[in-house]
Amino acid sequence: MIYDFDRVIDRKDSFSLKWSKIAIQKFFNKEDDDLLPLWVADMDFECPKPVVDAIKKEADGCVYGYNWHITPKYLDAVTGWMHRRHKWKVDRDWVVYSPGIVPAINMMIQTFSNVGDKVIVQPPVYYPFFSAVKENGRQLLQNQLRYENHRYTFDYEDFEEKAKDSLTKIFILCSPHNPVGRVWTKEELKKLGDICLEHNVLMIADEIHHDLILPGNKHTVYSTISKEFEQNSIICTAPSKTFNLAGLQVSNVIIPNKKMRQSFINTIVNKNGLGIPNPFGLVAMIAAYNDGEDWLEQVLRYIGLNFQSLKEFIEINLSDIKFIEPEGTYLAWLDFNSLGLNDEELKDLILNKANVALDDGSLFGLGGEGFQRINVACPKSILELAMHRIEKVVDQLNASR
Ligand SMILES: Cc1ncc(COP(=O)(O)O)c(C=O)c1O
Repeated sequence: MIYDFDRVIDRKDSFSLKWSKIAIQKFFNKEDDDLLPLWVADMDFECPKPVVDAIKKEADGCVYGYNWHITPKYLDAVTGWMHRRHKWKVDRDWVVYSPGIVPAINMMIQTFSNVGDKVIVQPPVYYPFFSAVKENGRQLLQNQLRYENHRYTFDYEDFEEKAKDSLTKIFILCSPHNPVGRVWTKEELKKLGDICLEHNVLMIADEIHHDLILPGNKHTVYSTISKEFEQNSIICTAPSKTFNLAGLQVSNVIIPNKKMRQSFINTIVNKNGLGIPNPFGLVAMIAAYNDGEDWLEQVLRYIGLNFQSLKEFIEINLSDIKFIEPEGTYLAWLDFNSLGLNDEELKDLILNKANVALDDGSLFGLGGEGFQRINVACPKSILELAMHRIEKVVDQLNASR
């Protein structure tokens, strides 16, 4: 089946965090029907048909009781996907259900470190990592990414300094990286992983975006690099970004190390009572992994074209803005620094003057100042409208100087 991703689906009257008026009012303090939201990382596209059919069938059953997911059907869907798409042979026993990756990361911090311990993150990065560390009473160590010639790389020397600290217990890797769009190479990951092994730091690899890879790039699942890496890592995966199922609250944490797995299951199931998925998430995930590949290929092509037209638009019309070439995800990271605005002024320009809601770079921590993150998983017409609005206000700003 051919999907029509150009179709604009009105989400304003739903509970959508990205689109609903009440959510926009809460997060942007703005009431304006004309505001274009390209912030939250979900897609404005319809889901794969097999997913919709599976949910409808489940709904038609008319009984929505408790579920038991640890069945061959569920485990084969997850392990089959990892094998087919990522050449990773996952043992059925390694798969642990979690309602989300953010809750899982919080619970891993609780399980594998103590209050006062240190956790490394790499800003600019997905901001719930910061709160997961701080709200659990751990100390945040920021190993800022290097930014040179509009490309991001790891700062290994600084990373090793931080990993050496005897209080450092965990490193949270974002792979592919939200928001900078890097798909880390095997060599880059190996260097970080060797440092983690040497200093006994647990690697939590958040790979929620690992199916969203642009042509010419290759994602390496961290734990496939070596058996030692496999035993010292937890890989966070989900169908939520891949198939646009975030609201259905189903993700899978893959933990090859038996002792670590038992400790995590104890936290997630026994201490927090979170072992039971909802039936819609379950059937959606199974349908997506088993029958959603064709949709994924189509959506990746569409996202690739949106990135391409965004890049061309910026090069032609917005020479003050630098488009950071993404290698994965559906999030573009735009450098507005040459406009010379502070964060408040930049926010005012985009939100109030252009009437477009993006994620402010400063939310992503060190190195995010002067940037904006834009979600391109939307119909091309919406993306174009947003960019025309931004072009207009940047032109006005330049004309007023
Ligand atoms: C890197 C990363 N991790 C986790 C999440 C959210 O995960 P979940 O909705 O499963 O908690 C996101 C969503 O944008 C993300 O970008």
